[in-house]
Amino acid sequence: MMSQKIQEALNKQLNAEFFSSYFYLSMSAYFEAKDLQGFAKWFRLQADEEYAHAMKIFNYIYQIGGAVKLDKIGGPKTEWNSILEVFLDTFEHEQKITKSINNLLDLSISEKDHATVNFLQWFVSEQVEEEAIAQQNVKRMEMLGDSKSGLFMLDKELGSRVNQ
Ligand code: FEO
Repeated sequence: MMSQKIQEALNKQLNAEFFSSYFYLSMSAYFEAKDLQGFAKWFRLQADEEYAHAMKIFNYIYQIGGAVKLDKIGGPKTEWNSILEVFLDTFEHEQKITKSINNLLDLSISEKDHATVNFLQWFVSEQVEEEAIAQQNVKRMEMLGDSKSGLFMLDKELGSRVNQ
């Protein structure tokens, strides 16, 4: 049985993952409006992945005898000044999520909750990957500059993404 503190922190992380899904779906909508189908697909799949992260936590809370308390999800940003800004926001957001996973892990260690420490290892690895991809996308956009053909190629490449 988890402590009240851990249960609250897991529910907070659950909300953050649902917000991430909503945030990336908003980015997908931004690209749909620009008719950049590859970018739109990539962000839609990213939103699906975040939903799956949330459900991993949802299932874990029940597995360990806790209770899920769903809170309201904040409204995400809906407008960006440039495509680069979207990717910069993504990178910044993932860094925030990493911080909150690390805080949750610190709390689990201090509460001597070994099961939750173990559960969170997957998220620690996942965040390394998420940050690396977000940073790579920022670098690519910076390299592209104003190149329309570069943008077309990147749209094509991102559109080939499949979730495992
Ligand atoms: Fe679930 Fe991208 O953090």
